[in-house]
Amino acid sequence: MIEIHNATTIDGQRSQQNIPSTTSRIIDANGLTLLPALIDPHVHFRTPGAEYKENWQSAAEAAIHGGVTTVFDMPNNTPSCITLERVREKKTRINAQLQIPIRYGLYLGADQNHLSEIIRCKQEIVGVKIYMGSSTGNLLMHDPKVLEQAFKIAGEHEILVAVHAEDEELIQKRSIECKAALHLGPRAHSIIRNAEVAARAVNQALEWAAKYRVRLYIAHVSTQEELDLIRQAKKGNVQVYAETSPHHLFLTTKLYETLGTLALVNPPLRDTNEPVWEAIYDGTIDTIGTDHAPHLLEEKRYPYGKAPSGFPSIELYLPLLLNAHAQGKISLPQIVRLTHTRPKEIFHLEETDDLVLVDLAKIKTVNDLHLKTKAKWSPYHGMTLQGWPRMTIIKGQVYDVDL
Ligand code: NCD
Ligand code: ZN
Ligand code: ZN
Repeated sequence: MIEIHNATTIDGQRSQQNIPSTTSRIIDANGLTLLPALIDPHVHFRTPGAEYKENWQSAAEAAIHGGVTTVFDMPNNTPSCITLERVREKKTRINAQLQIPIRYGLYLGADQNHLSEIIRCKQEIVGVKIYMGSSTGNLLMHDPKVLEQAFKIAGEHEILVAVHAEDEELIQKRSIECKAALHLGPRAHSIIRNAEVAARAVNQALEWAAKYRVRLYIAHVSTQEELDLIRQAKKGNVQVYAETSPHHLFLTTKLYETLGTLALVNPPLRDTNEPVWEAIYDGTIDTIGTDHAPHLLEEKRYPYGKAPSGFPSIELYLPLLLNAHAQGKISLPQIVRLTHTRPKEIFHLEETDDLVLVDLAKIKTVNDLHLKTKAKWSPYHGMTLQGWPRMTIIKGQVYDVDL
């Protein structure tokens, strides 16, 4: 049994908590605040095929340092996770790598030549992931007929569809039209993949979700235009859920000035975070997915056009939110809703005893050298944050994460 004494709850009460465990430990949590452990519905832990960037040993360590005990992993692996056999193989590999017993679920990648796999995989996955625009990996489905067919199948079999919503046709068109922007270097990424690119794909996905009664999960929402469409759809009868990412809450296109190609991510950084914060306040945003997408620094430093998109971030997920709380931008109940309650509801997860004890007063500066991710860098290096996890408890095991 683990006994936690004197912790503070999110509404300021004193609490006393017992967690079943094979070991016995008494934790004096005086001065610490107790939160349900975080659920991260969007990670790229790079197995199979890119274990040199990350694996489930390093990623699980990074996750518990960010207060996360449940993750859903994306299918853009090498090879892509597009069949039942690949899903099963991936699970075997993950289980062989895992040391910290993190809870996980997998997405199946939708592929135009393997649409029947969606039905076969129903019991083994949290949903089917559709890349409507290109990103890291080979997964891409942009033929409207095939896309619509995937929505139809998912609707008929009550399988959740998650989308990377960027319109590939418009990306291609704008890559040619915006040639003049290329002299700006990586900054052109935000010009080419503009708000219209995202909104057009969101609009299309919402239309099919309504038509085929699909539960639609829109990943990494970052613009006013997408949010307006989602607000509208939520007022109607569409079962749509919106996820945003830490980088769309805490970083902007200003980052290109200091980080250049390191600041590349899909969908790209925007000039402002304000619409996303507004959508957190009015409840339009349901979840935050870190989109933890590690690439090595040497790869990120390739010239624009060759450098991959994506940021490692999972271990800074909770510190970034707690720092926003310290700045008065978000309440603890709002953090719990986004990082725990809504993902649990959307993905029908069972309640667990997993907890995180945080020190809301602790101030520390992010140092890439101390990160647990194999990629050993983050776009948050040098930021001073107030509010850090001290202990994460998963399946009755306590991990001290105040390192
Ligand atoms: C992700 C990756 O590298 O796997 N990159 C990114 O920029 N977000 C893929 C994705 O989520 O689009
Ligand atoms: Zn994506
Ligand atoms: Zn992603």
